[in-house]
Amino acid sequence: MTKHRIIYDTDPGIDDAIALVFLARHPEIELVGITSVFGNADIDTTTRNALYLASRFAPHVPVARGAAAPLKCPAPEPISHIHGNDALGDIERIGHVDKPEDGRAAHRFMIDAVRAHPGEITLLAVGPMTNLALALQEAPDIAALVREVVVMGGAFGINGTLGNATPAAEANMHADPDAADIVFGAPWNVSIVGLDVTHETVMTTAFLASLRDSAGDAGRFVWDVSRFYERFHASDGISRGIYAHDYSAAAFVVARALYTTRSGPVRVLTDGIAAGLTIQKPASMRTDTPAPDWDTRPACDACIGVDADAVLDLFARTLAR
Ligand code: BDR
Ligand code: CA
Repeated sequence: MTKHRIIYDTDPGIDDAIALVFLARHPEIELVGITSVFGNADIDTTTRNALYLASRFAPHVPVARGAAAPLKCPAPEPISHIHGNDALGDIERIGHVDKPEDGRAAHRFMIDAVRAHPGEITLLAVGPMTNLALALQEAPDIAALVREVVVMGGAFGINGTLGNATPAAEANMHADPDAADIVFGAPWNVSIVGLDVTHETVMTTAFLASLRDSAGDAGRFVWDVSRFYERFHASDGISRGIYAHDYSAAAFVVARALYTTRSGPVRVLTDGIAAGLTIQKPASMRTDTPAPDWDTRPACDACIGVDADAVLDLFARTLAR
């Protein structure tokens, strides 16, 4: 079996942590490294959480500290009302984690790993895309050497949703729209797993409770860490459970047949009231409608449909292993 060799670029974050448990347990995934980025909390907190999660679920996987702020705009305020004060749902006092950081900056770690394993590395990015953009700026050659890039972010209005951070922007796009626009414009294979499918993929309270009761330490952790997130979702009017945002991108890597995608270049608006808005020019439009701001850029695959039951079943089966 050829494994997916993944660098997990993340801003943990409750749903980031849930996805990490899956990545650590899936037999077809080899975690090559975890890179942190600001986002759900400041970089000290997300890096500490990445170290904590690695030491608990993937002890031999290196963790490299990433960007503290977006390329151009100021760093956003932590969103503790969604992820908790510690960004992991405030379930325990995490404190100091004994695992040392890899000495390199996250983008340097990516460059080194991609050059060392040409054609093999998947970059799975579930936070602001700053580290990926920095890696591209410093080493444009890596675009040709990466196996693929899978991103959790964006929204294309398939189900009437354009954003969750603002009416026009998904949180990871909104946090660093300049970086996202660079990543979607580079000559590598990019797949985008956005709100169009993550809002269809809900881990209900009953689903999470069943993991708690049947999937050992991992299931118990997913239950515990999701309590705060579930209260936020309930207060936001989503009383059915939690959106499986970052896990959906992890699932896409190993089970893309469960998703329907649409091909075409994607732009991200970088300023104004709609900053972070993702807009695709579907490939079907190309011959009819010139769009110079899109036409010179490579196509990305944007997810527009999902077999949500099968995606959730994959999670349960993987944790139960
Ligand atoms: C994304 O925003 C973050 O809060 C989550 O971790 C996820 O990556 C969802 O919009
Ligand atoms: Ca995230």
